[in-house]
Amino acid sequence: MANKPTELSLIENEAQNGYMAYVRTHTAKLAQELGKKPLAFVLTLGCQQNESDSEKLRGMAAAMGYGITDNPKDAHLLIVNTCAIREHAEKRALSLVGQYKHIKTARPEAIIAVCGCMTAQPHRVESLKRSYPYVDILFGTSQLHRFPEFLAAKLRVGKRVLRSDEPEHTVAEDIPVIRESSYRAWVSVMYGCNNFCTYCIVPYVRGRERSRRKENIINEVKALVTEGYRDITLLGQNVNSYGKDLGADYDFADLLAELDKIEGDYLLHFMTSHPKDATRKLVDVMASGKRIAHHFHLPMQSGSDAVLKAMNRRYTFEKYIGIVDYIREKMPDATITSDIIVGFPEESEKDFEDTLNALRRARFDMIYSFIYSPRKGTPAAEMSQISKELQSERFDRLLAVQNEIALVANKPFEGKTVRVLCDGRSKNKEAAITGRTEGGKIVFFDGDDSHEGKFVNVKIERAETFALYGKIEK
Ligand code: 5AD
Ligand code: SF4
Repeated sequence: MANKPTELSLIENEAQNGYMAYVRTHTAKLAQELGKKPLAFVLTLGCQQNESDSEKLRGMAAAMGYGITDNPKDAHLLIVNTCAIREHAEKRALSLVGQYKHIKTARPEAIIAVCGCMTAQPHRVESLKRSYPYVDILFGTSQLHRFPEFLAAKLRVGKRVLRSDEPEHTVAEDIPVIRESSYRAWVSVMYGCNNFCTYCIVPYVRGRERSRRKENIINEVKALVTEGYRDITLLGQNVNSYGKDLGADYDFADLLAELDKIEGDYLLHFMTSHPKDATRKLVDVMASGKRIAHHFHLPMQSGSDAVLKAMNRRYTFEKYIGIVDYIREKMPDATITSDIIVGFPEESEKDFEDTLNALRRARFDMIYSFIYSPRKGTPAAEMSQISKELQSERFDRLLAVQNEIALVANKPFEGKTVRVLCDGRSKNKEAAITGRTEGGKIVFFDGDDSHEGKFVNVKIERAETFALYGKIEK
């Protein structure tokens, strides 16, 4: 068993409480000068874990006396929560931080903080230190709960606070949170990843796996259900290894079964599962559960055993498809989605064709596909790369194959009635309102604002590759 994580309650932690109180005296003074609360703006790049972290950053900012704004130009505290999964994400983060220079020039008292996965890398911290001198605070993902301390230090001493991630093995509880939605919520069950897939930066920027105690998770989900949340997603880089650091009586399938007992009208989702650890027991718990969405996101990454080996994924296509078949056997209505990386180093035409054939065999409802992007410090970045032209040619071929499959998968919905959690107004000209099915399929339909956050039954009239179109059943 790995080392047990140290639990820290932000509410009970005297030091962090002291820092928060210090910031509150500052924000109270500012509020008097301004005639209103100073404002904080948080920009999020990247995945659901980052969105969840940003909800905590907003929560901590509010607990320290800031109001929350959507407009960076109005903000007295600006936080950029960055992503490092691909080069494109880092470029976006750097360009956004670059744009905030104008804000700092116009209002030197505004505080700019940059955090998240990009700033957990020592080489990025170095370059941000040098090239972005107006950034006041820099810290990585495992230090999120120490944000009050960093902000207080900046306000007290005036100097920049630049922390590259020190390896922490902490699970922070009781962090205040301001959730984006009043009906969809994220609940982290664990942090970090131990897998070291050779392309992936995550284990380096989010550290080793550490799980939350199940009592804390159950209490959080209970409170969300009581507040009326309808859709709760359990988050972890590899939820299947939940609890391995805590002891033998911890298991993800058992946790899910326990949560499913909480009474209420809601759906439980989870992401992400690693195929090497996805068990039949987990599928059985889903199939027999009352409130567990029949949706499985199971990243395959490649259909070639040689590439899977080079990726250090520790399963073969045969093992992978065995799980898919078992899911379909137990839950014929399940939506199965996946992640695919195209153009991994040394991927041959034959390897790529194996992936296309794997798509034809697995028949995913949807995939998230990515062109391989070398990440500094990961083993795959040192392998022999294939050309960008070949990568993008294969990417287009992959999409063409998958789009046909997705359309065929969606067609049987025509004429059927599906339960949809409504997300309110859509930008689609054809339909006023949008929402998602239990499996996460996007649905456009008639309706009005009063449906937002509620489950509605929609009769599907037309199925397309990426969405279903229908009318509310009265
Ligand atoms: N390049 C391209 N895609 C990547 N992913 C992770 N690392 C990389 C990378 N270096 C993809 C994987 C993962 C998803 C979240 O991002 O498919 O499942
Ligand atoms: Fe990255 Fe692999 Fe961990 Fe997923 S399981 S976060 S792809 S190292």
